[in-house]
Amino acid sequence: MTSPAKPPEPIGDTAHAEALLADAHAVRSHAHAPYSRFPVGAALRDETGRIFTGCNVENASYGLTICAERVALGSAVAAGAGDITHMAIVAAGTKPVTPCGACRQVLVELAPTATIYLQTADRKHSRTTTTAELLPGSFSREDLAAGTQERTQEA
Ligand code: THU
Repeated sequence: MTSPAKPPEPIGDTAHAEALLADAHAVRSHAHAPYSRFPVGAALRDETGRIFTGCNVENASYGLTICAERVALGSAVAAGAGDITHMAIVAAGTKPVTPCGACRQVLVELAPTATIYLQTADRKHSRTTTTAELLPGSFSREDLAAGTQERTQEA
């Protein structure tokens, strides 16, 4: 006899967390990932409730690959999104995938106060985190503002 399936771990579940995760699951099916065969889906919500999505877009020239998170963030910027409050990321695996280092830096730039919901594609494992938790001690616009040298002569 098989034991009943374990319920998903709680993620501080508000209705919009579930909705955002559903969008990330859906957009993951559009990933262009013929090289890694590792499709990723990401969905963002801005302060007004607008939703923006992204999937990873790979290239035969591997280094040109764009992660799902940066596709979603760029899409939000291009559409004139307000402050990004939440993000959901979905990928396959036995634990939730966290954004790569490059995406963390872009999150600091564009979604510094976001809450981030992570979930595996089979919905068995979930985790909630934040941009600040993912990249402590980040380099940001405040560092630039504090350290930019005054122009001493005309260019
Ligand atoms: N990838 C993402 O899109 N997001 C992540 O958080 C991790 C990695 C993509 C990049 C590449 O297309 C594939 O996953 C394997 O690294």
